[in-house]
Parts: sequence; C-alpha cells; structure tokens
Amino acid sequence: MVASSRVLLVLDLALLAAVSCLAGTAAALSTEYYNKRCPSLQPTVRSAVARAVAADPNAGAAVLRLFFHDCFVNGCDASVLLDDGTAPGEKGAGPNANSLRGYEVIDAAKSAVEAACPGAVSCADVLAIAARDAVSLLGGPSWNVRMGRRDARSASRDAANANLPGPGSGLPALVAAFKAKGLSARDMTALSGVHTVGRARCAEFRGRVNANAGEAINATFAAGLRGACPAAGGADGALAPLDPVTPDAFDNGYFRALVERRGLLHSDQELFNGGSQDALVRKYASNGAAFFSDFAKAMVRMGNLAPAPGTPLEVRINCRRPN
Ligand code: HEM
Ligand SMILES: *[C@@H]1O[C@H](CO)[C@@H](O)[C@H](O)[C@H]1NC(C)=O
Repeated sequence: MVASSRVLLVLDLALLAAVSCLAGTAAALSTEYYNKRCPSLQPTVRSAVARAVAADPNAGAAVLRLFFHDCFVNGCDASVLLDDGTAPGEKGAGPNANSLRGYEVIDAAKSAVEAACPGAVSCADVLAIAARDAVSLLGGPSWNVRMGRRDARSASRDAANANLPGPGSGLPALVAAFKAKGLSARDMTALSGVHTVGRARCAEFRGRVNANAGEAINATFAAGLRGACPAAGGADGALAPLDPVTPDAFDNGYFRALVERRGLLHSDQELFNGGSQDALVRKYASNGAAFFSDFAKAMVRMGNLAPAPGTPLEVRINCRRPN
C-alpha cells in the first residue's frame, strides 16, 4: 500500500513536470530567490533605472519593450541582449533593428549588481526587475518580481522574427501570438497598455495615418500626423507618441485614446474596432485601477515564460556575450 502510493506520487510529480513544461512556465521562480544570494539587488537595480529615467524619460519605455521582446523569444532568458556572435542575434531581427534600444540601461544596472554580488544575478532577472521599476517610476503600479531565471548562451534571429507580432496585425493574429505563449486575450490587451509610454517611427504608422478608407482612425488625429509622416515617403524615423493623451506617464491614457480612434498603430486600434476586446478597452479607459491590477498580473505571467527544456543556460557576467 505504502509502496504503491509512493509510485502514484512519483507519477503525479512526473505529470506535473510534464504539464509545466508544456505551458512553458518555470515553477522555480521565487520572490525570495536572492534574499541570501544578493540582498541589495532590488535597490541597486532601482537606482540604476531611476538614474536612466531621470536623464531620459524614454529610457523607461525602452526597458519595457526589451522585456517583452526578451520573454516572447525563447522565454525570458536575456537572449535579446546578446550582441551578434557566431550566429546572428536578435538585435538585428525585423522588429528590433533600428528600433529596440535601452541596452545600456541594463548594462549599467548589471554592472552595479556585479559590483555588489559578483556572478550571482542573471541578466534576465535584472531585466525583469528593471521593467517593474520602469513602470512604477513612470507612475504605474508595482508588483513583486519572481526571480531565479538564467541566461541563454545564444540567441535566435529567426525566433525573434517568428514570435513578435507586427504593427499591421489584426485582432485574431494578436490574440493568436499571445495564446501561443499561454497568455489570454485579456493579458494581451492589458500588456498592450504599455503603449501608454514610448514612441513609434513613421515607418510603422504611415499606412494608417495616410489611409483613404478602411482604417478606423480619428480624422483630426490622422491629419495632425500626416505632416510629419507623409504618404509620399521619407521621414521614416519621425517619432510620434503611442499615447497622444499623456505620452510619458504610465496611466490609462492609451485606452482613452483608443476609444477616440486615436491609436497610433493599426494593431493598437484593433483592440477597439468592434471586436472581442472593446468592452475591456472601455473598462480600462474609465477605470485606471482595473487596468493597473490586470496589468501587474499579466506582467508576472509574461515574466514566467521560460526557455525550452534543455536550453543551455548560465548566469552571464556581461549581458552582451556568453561567459
Ligand atoms: C500587442 C502586440 C504589440 C505590437 C504589434 C507592438 C508593436 C510595436 C511597434 C511597431 C512599436 C514601434 C517601434 C518603432 O517604431 O521603433 C512599439 C513600441 C513599443 N512597444 Fe510595442 N507592440 C506590442 C505589444 C507590446 C507589449 C506587450 C509591450 C510591453 C510589455 C510593448 C512595449 C512597447 C514600448 C515601450 C514601445 C515604445 C518603445 C520606445 O519608445 O523606444 N509593446 N511596439
Ligand atoms: C477625435 O479626437 C478628438 C480629440 O482629439 C475627440 O474629441 C473626438 O471625439 C474624436 N472623434 C471620434 C470620432 O472619436
């Protein structure tokens, strides 16, 4: 009897392990992970991020996008931070080239952490903490970060090109891209609320603001952007805020803009264009606390995305290259 229940327990554990692998989540992450290994970790990262945001309000947005582009490509393993090595890295992938930035903010935080706790803390955990701090420094919610991630030894440009949704995506494609990561449509809409800060380049919204028909866009808003982003081309790098209401504050201004058809990217407006997310967008637009609460939970879920079992991992000393 004792022996057979032990066998059952082993089977249960094996099943549990199999299920958590399928979901791509790391059961091992913990808010306590560095309590003994590096007690000064969180204040150290926070001061580095605070310095960067004080010098450039856009640094917070840069760090937030880095975290998304890390976690969606082979899990949150800091692969996005690797410079090109023998294989092409993720920095040069379509969604990242000439666009993703903020690498030096993570370098500075990691150097400060290395000085305090050499070899102890992964780049992936530094990025997860920095993303949380960026949100709270810009006026958004805070949450307890779960830690214990390790860093990849290689990156995949192909995986970055395949896994990151593009700005021309319709709602079904957006829902599918998040579902492929075990995240719900609600998580997707809440996480998109990060577009309450940051900028996009004309190249990404030219089609939308110059469309003659078939694009759900506020006519006054579109007219205001055509000067800087003309249909004729050029000005690819001209920037516009993703949230025209409060461009640098982490609040629910993005959702208020969507309700007025003032989403900057086609993919933004897809969240409020007669589909399944309309009611949730209206809710977030009128209730900032509801957005903050769902957002914090969704960031924890996105932060749980783990590299595939068997991926070689380590704690990198320099976030730009394997040890
Ligand atoms: C839902 C699908 C999403 C799509 C299609 C998308 C697409 C884009 C695009 C095209 C840009 C402009 C890049 C440029 O012009 O250089 C952008 C900017 C940005 N995205 Fe997203 N994004 C999505 C979700 C997210 C999520 C989930 C996050 C974070 C959790 C995020 C964070 C950011 C930030 C912070 C910026 C501004 C970056 C800056 O100012 O440097 N995005 N996004
Ligand atoms: C267009 O945007 C303006 C604010 O710039 C807003 O007052 C108006 O209601 C919007 N129009 C529509 C159709 O939502």
